[in-house]
Amino acid sequence: MALITTKEMFKKAYEGGYAIGAFNISDLEQLQGVLEGAKAKNSSVIIQASKSAIEYAGPHTLVEMVKAASDEIGVDVALHLDHGPSLEAVKMCVEAGFSSVMIDGSHYDFEENVRITKEVVDYAHAHGVVVEAELGVLAGVEDEVSSDVHKYTDPDEAKEFVERTGVDSLAIAIGTSHGAFKFKGEAELKFDILEEIQAKLPGFPIVLHGASAVDQNSVATCNEFGGNIAGAKGIPVDMLRKASSMAVCKINMDTDLRLAMTAAIRKYLAENPAQFDPRKYLGAGRAAIQAVVESKIEDVLGSANSAK
Ligand code: G3H
Ligand code: 13P
Ligand code: ZN
Repeated sequence: MALITTKEMFKKAYEGGYAIGAFNISDLEQLQGVLEGAKAKNSSVIIQASKSAIEYAGPHTLVEMVKAASDEIGVDVALHLDHGPSLEAVKMCVEAGFSSVMIDGSHYDFEENVRITKEVVDYAHAHGVVVEAELGVLAGVEDEVSSDVHKYTDPDEAKEFVERTGVDSLAIAIGTSHGAFKFKGEAELKFDILEEIQAKLPGFPIVLHGASAVDQNSVATCNEFGGNIAGAKGIPVDMLRKASSMAVCKINMDTDLRLAMTAAIRKYLAENPAQFDPRKYLGAGRAAIQAVVESKIEDVLGSANSAK
């Protein structure tokens, strides 16, 4: 099965009032867990990999692994570069066979972000690959990019940015945050900003990063079986479901998969101390990822039965 782009997925998601899950992976078990979850719910899905995940797995290994797993499991999938740092990184992924890329120029000033994004759009579109960009800054750590404070996306700038770059989707900052430690106080998403952006860019797909809910059961299981994760906090599920019913067509989740996989592996090894077959404990991690993906599709994304 060839990798697909996100164009058709986003069009259907926008019209249907749901979002597509974009799940980060760096190994076989994570990939299979995500695809099995999508298959079980008959949902479209995006597999994404950060620069460091691509370095970990190898770009060609990733592409071939995603294609083969998508064939074997029987799910159409887009393969996306998450937080692409440069045109060179984008070129490496496009040449390897990715169907979608992100250029993250959010840490540059507006004009430089427009310039680098436009350069990537021109290159990627000439190769049949779609592009996501980012405007505004999320608090927390973004793959080798960190920020202590949110800089919410300005709706007028968002409109100008999309028109000048020709980008296919835009990640915005409305209060989400990367990682497991998102807030000290209560979560707050700026739905007024999302509404304004939607009004200025009707029909245009918006992306939310840093959207893990940080399931407290996973955190508790990690800690019960030898972990030490304190103060982890995520985005409430109902806020994310509301966003996905609006212009948000892609929701990025990585931390929730990491927590679920780690919790399952810790538990398995603690309960089976004589076991040393990696397929046993990695299999437990894979099953946990599948369960998380299925619950995201139902509770957060609303994308069940969106696959053709
Ligand atoms: O947004 C960042 C992703 O969670 C990727 O993180 O660079 O550790 O792979 P990573
Ligand atoms: P989380 O850390 O909330 O899972 O966000 C992941 C993300 O945005 C990947 O780009
Ligand atoms: Zn992100």
